[in-house]
Amino acid sequence: MPNDIVTAWDRHSAAYQDAAKLSTSVAHYGPDIGTEADLRLLGDLKGKKVLELGCGGAQCSIAFAKQGATAIGVDFSSTQLAHARRLCERDEVRVELRQGDLADLAFLRADSIDLVFSAYAFGYVEDLNRVFRQVHRVLKVGAPLVFSLTHPAYDMVDDDAEPALLVRRSYFDRAPIDFEWGGIPFTAYHHTFAELYMGLARASYKVDLIVEPEPLAGGPRSHAWRETYHYLPRTLIVRARKEGN
Ligand SMILES: C[S@@+](CC[C@H](N)C(=O)[O-])C[C@H]1O[C@@H](n2cnc3c(N)ncnc32)[C@H](O)[C@@H]1O
Repeated sequence: MPNDIVTAWDRHSAAYQDAAKLSTSVAHYGPDIGTEADLRLLGDLKGKKVLELGCGGAQCSIAFAKQGATAIGVDFSSTQLAHARRLCERDEVRVELRQGDLADLAFLRADSIDLVFSAYAFGYVEDLNRVFRQVHRVLKVGAPLVFSLTHPAYDMVDDDAEPALLVRRSYFDRAPIDFEWGGIPFTAYHHTFAELYMGLARASYKVDLIVEPEPLAGGPRSHAWRETYHYLPRTLIVRARKEGN
């Protein structure tokens, strides 16, 4: 039985937000790598309608709104969304925040969204193909889905164990990954490179960019920093565009 991720995020939110200290000026993709200011994967968002899935504190959506986008953030954790509301108020920015599962996009019209973005939320979702289909419905033709998640190669190591760079889990093991974060039980899902690619292709996307960012050379290092980041990609970023219906 997988751990209850809503409860886990409700319990972990305060500690996560406190430690991560994410910027609301520029979208991020993961710990200790370049931001959108370096990677430039999203293009000009002025006047665009942007949907962020698993938005957490909505720091990225706030950054999109500051660039002139109409931003919608979806997350199922009420505690994460409460943090998002506080940040929106602080920054005097409007983001439409919706509580719900990121695969439930019935509230959006078909072909209405210019960009779907997600940072480090898809790894908590078992059935990503359902997400790809839902997102496909709401995206405009040619518009991108850009998401980051734990690189599937990184699932093979346990960076809390010593030595950290031992392969402890088969790349081919599809079992859920149970782990503790701040003493709270979480479950994540391993999505191989080939499965991500095939899932997107079958849902009628064209993958146009894969990024495996190296850690920033000089730091500063985040709360999540590990020496393992020098040896294995921690984060995988995918950009895929909706092809016709
Ligand atoms: C690691 S946090 C990332 C949050 C934010 N994107 C960021 O970069 O800080 C993962 C987020 O995804 C949310 N999440 C995970 N699975 C979800 C699902 N199936 N539906 C909605 N939200 C989900 C969690 O509540 C949590 O806020």
